[in-house]
Amino acid sequence: MFVQQFNRKPRWITAAPGRVNLIGEHTDYTGGFVLPFTIDRDCYVIAAPGEIAGMSRIFAADMGTAEVGAAHGELWLADIRKGLYPLVGGKPPSGFARGSWKSYVGGAIDRTRELTTKAGGKALANVDMVIASDVPAGGGLASSAALEIALAMWVQATSGVELAPWDVIKACREAEHSFAGVPCGVMDQAVVTLAQENHAIMMRCREPYKPVQVPMPASDKLAILVVNSNVRHALAAGEYASRVEACKQLETLLGALYLSDVDLASVENRRSEISEDQFNIATHVMEENTRVHAAVDCLKRGDLCGLGQLLTRSHDSLRDFYRVSCQELDAIVATAITHSGVFGARMVGGGFGGCAIVLCMPEVVESVSRTLRDMYRAKFSRDCSMTRVNPAGGAAVIVK
Ligand code: GLA
Repeated sequence: MFVQQFNRKPRWITAAPGRVNLIGEHTDYTGGFVLPFTIDRDCYVIAAPGEIAGMSRIFAADMGTAEVGAAHGELWLADIRKGLYPLVGGKPPSGFARGSWKSYVGGAIDRTRELTTKAGGKALANVDMVIASDVPAGGGLASSAALEIALAMWVQATSGVELAPWDVIKACREAEHSFAGVPCGVMDQAVVTLAQENHAIMMRCREPYKPVQVPMPASDKLAILVVNSNVRHALAAGEYASRVEACKQLETLLGALYLSDVDLASVENRRSEISEDQFNIATHVMEENTRVHAAVDCLKRGDLCGLGQLLTRSHDSLRDFYRVSCQELDAIVATAITHSGVFGARMVGGGFGGCAIVLCMPEVVESVSRTLRDMYRAKFSRDCSMTRVNPAGGAAVIVK
């Protein structure tokens, strides 16, 4: 794609994977526990020094298809050396519509460049770049973190400075807050950066973080299917922010720095002061944290049935208490868990559409897939798509 677009060979290639969160959903921004792993789907940044004086050209290929020439957007920058994105009061300039792919590109480059400059790295020069990803955008698989971290790897490669991983993780999360307008937690950027092949990361989402690598079952024992509902409900962004806000309000009310520090008994004691919605939100967060620990125990014991049940309970809680599921995801989970050989299933990521994961025995992958495909078509008159994924490693510079 790069050669087609720019008629020469690239100089740098970096890649960062998407992720599946096994369990621990909507807990990261409450200082809670998560258990994500990266998958063998990546966002690539392919670049070379810019050819046109005073101009950078960044093309984003159509996410998902990665067909040659399927560029669906381009970002022409006046002059990367003269301040790429002049920030107005810490905010992105008006040209970057919040949440568009450009705001992610602008934010990640800007915030990482700030760090490499402080560390004495080479100034960024103009660049010609192609971005191509097979992490489905908006699918709950952290396509945005993959994009941000792949860009951050490129900024480091081109500036000649290697930053501390947690500085990059925090810079990219901050970019997502201020440029893309999503008040996300730190889970996605952290796992995309720190993951090791065949491991999930168990982490408490607050200083000092202390991520622990937890071995995942071998692929002949466990198949992990990602089922994309191919729907994204318009309320997703606003609803995500409103859940974050609800947790902050609860923290203030309960006098806790992190909602995840509070136990359910203390919330019950204040039952009369909080609404039913708030009570349900607190219940989800607290029980989900407990499920993360139980899931790690199951992984250690090789108890896949126990693990699956925890996932299904997590889904029920996200549907009923946290209310971030949707009927398409509920139907996928309900159908999957009645199929023989399935250990459990749940929605992943922010919710309101996107993907569900199904844990099953490798022998039943085909028949579960067929059953889900038929159910989905019959019920929603559209197709869901599915793919088996494997726990992969973290972001990398492939060509320096
Ligand atoms: C999105 C956010 C994460 C996390 C999940 C929900 O993926 O980026 O920080 O909050 O939703 O668990």
